[in-house]
Amino acid sequence: MPHERRVRVLIDEDKIARRNYEIALDIAKREPKQLLIVAILKGSFMFAADLMRALHHAGLMPQVEFMHLSSYRDATVSSGQVVILKDVESDVRDRDVILIDDILESGRTIAFAKDLLTARGARVLTCCLLEKPGKRAVSIKADFIGFTCPDLFVVGYGMDVAHSYRQLPYIGVVEMDEAG
Ligand code: IMP
Ligand code: MG
Repeated sequence: MPHERRVRVLIDEDKIARRNYEIALDIAKREPKQLLIVAILKGSFMFAADLMRALHHAGLMPQVEFMHLSSYRDATVSSGQVVILKDVESDVRDRDVILIDDILESGRTIAFAKDLLTARGARVLTCCLLEKPGKRAVSIKADFIGFTCPDLFVVGYGMDVAHSYRQLPYIGVVEMDEAG
């Protein structure tokens, strides 16, 4: 497994699972009505799947939808423009929506999705697995945050670099060997 050997674990599976359950309990405390999870693809698919199970254990009956958004990027730097590659299929009006994303960085992706669903009449709360402090280009605060992330490019648990490493069950950093 050449890929796995080069990834340094930052947050392991157990820690992620415990945090997911805590977040689910926090969400349950809000007593959401007609709860709809909207997961932003692709990076949040694994987090969303585990959070759905944690929400079940917390006594909720969430439904789930997916929205595929992409922000144009130059290498690993976001340019700021967000495009919809796939929209949600359900009517979100008057529903409590929890918008899920992998990383809150510039904030543009989640702000774009939040504005869109709010304009359609949903009550939107946001939930990000990771938050990178000091990187915000737009003013948005997530309502639920898994972990604060150091200023490193992380992979795993749904997150990629050039489409790889999404399968890792933990969050880590790719270590470069001498060949790069
Ligand atoms: P932003 O908040 O609009 O800048 O977008 C954050 C998005 O950039 C996330 O959803 C990720 O897809 C991507 N991203 C930012 N930092 C990382 C990282 O460290 N690893 C993997 N993807 C990242
Ligand atoms: Mg993403």
